[in-house]
Amino acid sequence: MKFLVLNGVNLNMTGRREKGVYGVQTLEEINSELAAFCAERGDEAEFFQSNLEGEICSRLHEADGAYDGIVLNAGAFTHYSYAIRDAIASIRVPVVEVHMSNVHAREEFRKKSVLTEVCRGEILGFGKNSYKLALESFRL
Ligand code: DQA
Repeated sequence: MKFLVLNGVNLNMTGRREKGVYGVQTLEEINSELAAFCAERGDEAEFFQSNLEGEICSRLHEADGAYDGIVLNAGAFTHYSYAIRDAIASIRVPVVEVHMSNVHAREEFRKKSVLTEVCRGEILGFGKNSYKLALESFRL
């Protein structure tokens, strides 16, 4: 299977910001681990990160028909981006929403996702393993 792992705003700071919450590994290190995880299973993954909401939307549009699944950590866009929500709703590729932290155990504003309703499912709270669980979910 072919997957797109999509990261939104501030995820490029992973390994440098709030290490107690998001861990010490950089996004590049996590992505290499995910690429190896996919390769072991005979799957393929492509990776994209942007701090710009419109770029995430465009990447979702381009992904239509090109992947078997998308793993999306939209970062803070999760909590307010109706544009990303509509982009997900406009494509046929299933999207699994991911968060490294347990957003329900944090600030009030993180408890609401405007994306979940249009996603196949949501995995959160397992650090970088949230991405692996999301990739695994496409095999179920
Ligand atoms: C996050 C949780 C979001 O609330 C936050 O804005 C992030 C990362 C996570 O992976 O836990 O940037 O999506």
